[in-house]
Amino acid sequence: MPSSPFHLATETLDFLRLRLPPPLAHPRVAIVCGSGLGGLADAADQRGLREEWAYGDVPNFPLSTVPGHEGKLVFSTMGPRQVPVVLLVGRAHFYEGHSMETVTFATRLCRLLGVETMLMTNAAGGLNPAYRVGDIVCLNDHLNLAGLVGFHPLRGANDDEFGVRFPPLSDAYDLPLRQLAHRAWHDLRRQTPGGRAMHEGVYAFVAGPSYETRAECRMLRLLGADVVGMSTVPEIVVARHCGMRVLAFSLVTNQAVLAPTLRADGAELQGLSREELEALQSRGRADHQEVLEAGRLAAVDMQGLVLRIVSEL
Ligand code: 6GU
Repeated sequence: MPSSPFHLATETLDFLRLRLPPPLAHPRVAIVCGSGLGGLADAADQRGLREEWAYGDVPNFPLSTVPGHEGKLVFSTMGPRQVPVVLLVGRAHFYEGHSMETVTFATRLCRLLGVETMLMTNAAGGLNPAYRVGDIVCLNDHLNLAGLVGFHPLRGANDDEFGVRFPPLSDAYDLPLRQLAHRAWHDLRRQTPGGRAMHEGVYAFVAGPSYETRAECRMLRLLGADVVGMSTVPEIVVARHCGMRVLAFSLVTNQAVLAPTLRADGAELQGLSREELEALQSRGRADHQEVLEAGRLAAVDMQGLVLRIVSEL
């Protein structure tokens, strides 16, 4: 019989507990670092208490195969009050072929480690026309598109050790944490004015791995989404199922293209050269390198934000 998520996570917990010094063995906060945001690990204590494992060296831990997703587990402390934290640098995605159980393995492990608050980050495409590349979106809700059609992390027998069969999600995006996030951002902005903005918005979770077509982007916008991405929502659902508080940020790494291409049967296109047509067609095309670059540029601001939030938890 295959092992249950609870059994697997317990095995991993035992492995880690035997090897962690007592001050690090009970992290209060988990920080999930999205595409290009691995630098968040630098916001944790660099010299003092710190234990790192490559995912490959931790039993049962899924490996990420995506460039820009390093794959390591960091136990450390953050801020002047030395809040014990665990950082997950890189995550397993559904589009890599992992099951929803595997994608959410690390989230459940966090619960068993005693984590109370999950701070998630991801790279996402901006659908809201007011958003600019490099802006940060504090998520206030989601559209679990894959979940609504059956790819749901809680499908199957309920793990009563973790939570109830029918968990609510209307309160998934913790209001006090969002208030703290905006306050922290406001304080940081006062020190370094200009630059990126912070918004609140709705994240649409799609299975990927292709980026969306123009028509799909328009559909997602019509449905009420502000950003679109391929992660985080399964982890948030599982985190809420097992009683953790959640705060999630998207970094807008590119603007999704909503405008249809000009119609080739219309007169306006007939006079254009091949090169002009190619330029029209490729404008705004999503690209993984661009996503990683935006993450790299935003990393320092994200680090400052996360550090400030964790310091006040
Ligand atoms: Cl445009 N779409 C999706 N699904 N994920 C993304 C993205 C876009 N940009 C970064 N991640």
